[in-house]
Amino acid sequence: MSKYIAFPKEFIWGCASSAYQVEGAWNEDGKGPSIWDTFVHTPGHVVNGETGDLAVEHYHRYKEDVALMKELGLDAYRFSIAWARVLPNGTGSVNQAGLDFYDRLVDELLKNKIEPYACLFHWDLPQSLQDKGGWPNRDTAYAFADYARVATSRLSDRIKVWMTHNEPWVAAMAGHFAGEHAPGIKDVSAAFKALHHLLLSHGLATEAIRASARQPVKVGITLNLNPVHPASQLKKDRDAASRMDAVLNRATLDPLLKGTTPVQEFAIGKLISGSLIKPGDMEKIRTLDLLGVNYYARTVARYDPKFPVVKAVQTHPEGNEYSGMWEIYPEGIYELLTRIWKDYQPKCDLMITENGVPVPDGLDFDGRVRDERRIRYLRDHLAQVQRALAEGVPVKGYFHWSLMDNFEWAHGFGQRFGLVYVDFKTQKRTIKDSGRWFARVIQENGFDI
Ligand code: FCB
Repeated sequence: MSKYIAFPKEFIWGCASSAYQVEGAWNEDGKGPSIWDTFVHTPGHVVNGETGDLAVEHYHRYKEDVALMKELGLDAYRFSIAWARVLPNGTGSVNQAGLDFYDRLVDELLKNKIEPYACLFHWDLPQSLQDKGGWPNRDTAYAFADYARVATSRLSDRIKVWMTHNEPWVAAMAGHFAGEHAPGIKDVSAAFKALHHLLLSHGLATEAIRASARQPVKVGITLNLNPVHPASQLKKDRDAASRMDAVLNRATLDPLLKGTTPVQEFAIGKLISGSLIKPGDMEKIRTLDLLGVNYYARTVARYDPKFPVVKAVQTHPEGNEYSGMWEIYPEGIYELLTRIWKDYQPKCDLMITENGVPVPDGLDFDGRVRDERRIRYLRDHLAQVQRALAEGVPVKGYFHWSLMDNFEWAHGFGQRFGLVYVDFKTQKRTIKDSGRWFARVIQENGFDI
């Protein structure tokens, strides 16, 4: 029996992207190098040695891309600002030409009645700040607040929603513990220092944005969150799952929504937190008008003493469905939303700021991209978002990752997440079947399941 999945009238439908993954123009118009420029230009970091030097040339093709957003009927577009375009050395002199690009982009969005959601940091730290110690150095948090002030002073007459960070947990852990992302460091204590300073910088930047905004604005953050399930009902696996949850989810949620941190529950926390967390830091961090949730997968955790800090390892249950990167688990988005609502009772707005799936799409003989798998993914996940709404969780919107296929970090161009197909040689854009499906959902504010 079919069922109609309806969304609230004011629900915001959007797509998300990030500067390094789409812009290209890595050294144009006075932009300084970022840690991602350095990382991709060092052999061995990205599949096939691919880089975001050109990415999908959004810097030059932004008008065409906004036209695609318009064709899809998007209410909003979430993008990030490249810090090193605005301040080539991270601090000091401002590169007006870099700001001009965001000026043009925002004007084009508004002309097409698409609300800009700007994120100040999607992982591309200016290299000169990395040279001074990067995020493990507390000074970087203050430099970030200065950069936030510069960006807001120029753009907040038109941008009303500001996100400080995208997934600070990933920036800290993938960049400083796993070493799979820039700056490619493998040092657990550097990772926890980076995490604290990223969160602190959220608080400092929020203050700066509010003080320099040219109209009332909302300031938020976007977090990667994964519901954690134990691999079995054995106590050691349940305990492993709870430690994993503390490190994966509560390490960002607790500071931002409660002003506390679970990091001290771990030996590593005791080791670093004495000098790391200064008086007043936690109060500064706890400030949010908007919490963005990025959901991709759950984590199934099993006890494993070999693994540092959490003594747990992620497992991949057999028989479940997987994409090229993660397990596909639609209920997870519902579990997260209801858990945040119940455990934290946030006073701020709540939104899905990323959700999507990589599919090995290709153009068919007739030039169409029949990405049925993405349509199914979207339908299943949106139905779970609506389930949370129906149970009273006031989710304000959903941003799909991503508008277009783009540079997927260490995976290079191998994982396609777009609603729009991009031929990476010619840069030709083609709306996929999923894009057409999403456009209908936006138009009708719902769909049949
Ligand atoms: C998220 C990132 C985003 C993209 C998706 C697939 O963690 O925020 O840039 O890479 O994953």
